[in-house]
Amino acid sequence: MKIAVFASGSGSNFQAIVDSIKVGLLDAEVKLLVCDKPNAYAIERAKKEEIESFVFNPKDFQSKEDFERKIVSELQKREIQYLILAGYMRLIGPTILREFEKRIINIHPSLLPKFPGKDAIGQAIAAGVNTTGVTIHFVDEGMDTGPIIAQEELIIMEHDTAETLAVRIHEVEHRLYPKTLQTIFNNGGVRHHEKSAH
Ligand code: GRF
Repeated sequence: MKIAVFASGSGSNFQAIVDSIKVGLLDAEVKLLVCDKPNAYAIERAKKEEIESFVFNPKDFQSKEDFERKIVSELQKREIQYLILAGYMRLIGPTILREFEKRIINIHPSLLPKFPGKDAIGQAIAAGVNTTGVTIHFVDEGMDTGPIIAQEELIIMEHDTAETLAVRIHEVEHRLYPKTLQTIFNNGGVRHHEKSAH
């Protein structure tokens, strides 16, 4: 499967995906990193892994539609089949959604529909709940609202802060994301071919 990973930050999930491919746990090829933050550490990771990046500053474009059109053309040039969002801090707009319907996947650090949006880990700590977790879901036009594919629960300990909890959340993410992607590619690859044959 030819994939593009979208990230805005540290890119540890990007790295986990790349590493899983290297050891044969995930059958995919990361053809492109798409990044909207020219200083993001994810870009350094891509360089080190000799993976191409498309880095852009939204301010250099007149509109979201404009930069999303450019992204779509970068994706199509490389025949990308799936878009994997890993800490991409923007809503995917209709320009990308139209082209990649049902083929955009996101990971979110809470048990959706609880705590959507920014700082889901901080939101869980502030709410004083006993458990939170990780959700992997298909992306639709909403904020963290698409159909859920996989979830894993995690217990919040009394002494947990947003920082200590984030470490455990990331451990779960780095294991769950590649594994779930492999399942999607095994099952969904066929559906995708069926769909594109219509
Ligand atoms: C992850 O916690 C992910 O769930 C959220 O953004 C974070 C990205 O972390 N959507 P990283 O850049 O992969 O380290």
